[in-house]
Amino acid sequence: MIWKYRYGRPFETDAVVEHVKAAEGSPPFGTVSLEDGFRYRYELPKDAVVYGLGEAVRGINKRGHCYVSHASDDPHHLEGTRSLYGAHNFIVVAGETPFGLFVDYPAKVVFDIGYTAADVLEIACQEADLYLYVIEGDTPYDIVRQFRRIIGRSYIPPKFAFGFGQSRWGYKTKEDFRQVADGYQNNHIPIDMIYMDIDYMQDFKDFTWNKENFPDFPAFVREMKARNIRLIPIIDAGVEVEKGYPVYEEGVENGYFCKRADGSDFVAAVWPGDTHFPDVLNPEARRWFGGCYRALTDQGIEGFWNDMNEPAIFYTPEGVREAAALLREYVTDQAGTVSIFQVREALAGLQNDQRYYESFYHRVDGRMVRHDKVHNLFGYNMTRAAAEGFEQIDPDKRFLLFSRSSYIGMHRYGGIWTGDNKSWWSHILLNLQMMPSLNMCGFLYAGADLGGFGDNVTRDLLLRWLVLGVFTPLMRNHSAIDTREQECYRFERVEDFRHVIGVRYRLLPYLYSEYMKAALSGDLYFKPLAFEYPEDSFTPQVEDQLMLGGEVMIAPVYTQNAKGRYVYLPEEMLFVKFMPDGSIHEEKLPPGHHYVEIALNEVPLFIRAGKCIPLAEAAESVAELRTDSLVLLGYSGAAYLLYDDDGVHKDYKDPANRKLLKKTS
Ligand code: GLC
Repeated sequence: MIWKYRYGRPFETDAVVEHVKAAEGSPPFGTVSLEDGFRYRYELPKDAVVYGLGEAVRGINKRGHCYVSHASDDPHHLEGTRSLYGAHNFIVVAGETPFGLFVDYPAKVVFDIGYTAADVLEIACQEADLYLYVIEGDTPYDIVRQFRRIIGRSYIPPKFAFGFGQSRWGYKTKEDFRQVADGYQNNHIPIDMIYMDIDYMQDFKDFTWNKENFPDFPAFVREMKARNIRLIPIIDAGVEVEKGYPVYEEGVENGYFCKRADGSDFVAAVWPGDTHFPDVLNPEARRWFGGCYRALTDQGIEGFWNDMNEPAIFYTPEGVREAAALLREYVTDQAGTVSIFQVREALAGLQNDQRYYESFYHRVDGRMVRHDKVHNLFGYNMTRAAAEGFEQIDPDKRFLLFSRSSYIGMHRYGGIWTGDNKSWWSHILLNLQMMPSLNMCGFLYAGADLGGFGDNVTRDLLLRWLVLGVFTPLMRNHSAIDTREQECYRFERVEDFRHVIGVRYRLLPYLYSEYMKAALSGDLYFKPLAFEYPEDSFTPQVEDQLMLGGEVMIAPVYTQNAKGRYVYLPEEMLFVKFMPDGSIHEEKLPPGHHYVEIALNEVPLFIRAGKCIPLAEAAESVAELRTDSLVLLGYSGAAYLLYDDDGVHKDYKDPANRKLLKKTS
């Protein structure tokens, strides 16, 4: 049962695509006050778990802190960080009578989940112009599935996107990329994608490439593709202000950029210096920006990552003028009224100053909408622009596409990566905990920068993190410029990396099949244990294990120097370890708590009682993967429904895509 309440004059975000009848009166759970903006209040039952919020810090259970939905370019993902890059306003309160809430409001939303008062949930928005969806269901899992139904089918990437990808900020020339390809392929470590960060561009200009470093770009794209490697370029939100640059000229000429109040084009500095933001909330500008991707697809490019689309702003000319004036005053100020701390703050505050977001406008249905009122929709609509562009370029073909910033609704157009994390052990756990929450909000194709983006990686951290990455749909190693080099072949005993990533490819038929089934039926790929075992009173406490698809449970190691970990089994399971010598360790474990040993170079998983999963032979790329010689791993007598397709086109409904496999021995 779903109720849809309308307050004031909501902005149409297109997050929900299925018709939901409008409800009258007050919501069946909690109370709403419209006296000071919008305030929702609900007394949380003592042991109620609160799920959801997609991309956010802390645990699977969100209870006990305050979170703010406000797309933010913040690379410090600390316990106290309230806003990350995405804004995913869906939660499930799992008390005696479970219910879900979706606050469809594109500006800042505060979720105080037992922070101010331990047993009170309070949701606040500055303005009472929104839709509130209240979902009742038998279980939290059922509520999530109802929600997923109304927000529409999740994005489906091409199959190659389930391979392993290497990225690093700093790859510049053809030689840099060839070195990465060689580093992997000469060491027989599987790889399918190499990501191109901003340095492939001509002076950081979107939809260009550096002609000196890539004199024949399409030939280079072909060269890599012949090695089964796709190049995946980045696209940033800001378009450089530069006379003669066609994207800039077209945007200005047609009024496709965001405007200041006086009608001039808003200027924000990002990587290239001064840029304009494409007004992706305006359908016409969106169509134009989406069409720009053709400049690269025409060269053979089949995937992109959209970045800096909160949108991030390093500074604006106005901001710099103001800070400079303060600095001048400090230098000449005899009376000492301006302190050095004020100056320091003004300079630090230049980046992503809230006032910038209050000083530019979008054109929507002929009216000007101030950006901060719709802030959380920018990354969503940039990615929608790209996806709609691909529909024009080749409607039958799947493109790889994921974004840094997002709002619910964007899950139909692309995936996400979780932004600039760090090479910290705690971020492995954070990665794990975010995955089911993201899935609840529709984001199935998701992953973190494996090994960590900022800070310096260590070999053991990377290996342990890759073991989690084996299971995340997006499996990408990415790191920041000036950090320790993080490509797998840079470390001692490269065979361990070959083995761990190799297991991803052996499992790929299963992972792809479960992904496709989840996407096609509005289900979860990753679930908290309590969703699968609602009767088990311990499962709501399990914060470091996940159910994957219908057959598997994962429990990776995420602490340094550990030789294994404790794991909780709600039922009997088959404990499987992919051993570095290629053998598979199988051991039935009874329900309960266990300590299991897991070495750095072993990949563990658990198969649920009575189930089995398909396993392919080792391959070094998705293209080389053989699906005609699958074996089944797990309980004998079990059956598995395999979904498979060509991984390129969109004929998902073809009955030939589904095959029942039986494990006879
Ligand atoms: C942003 C992105 C990061 C990228 C960098 C340079 O920080 O989040 O992934 O490497 O910009 O483009």
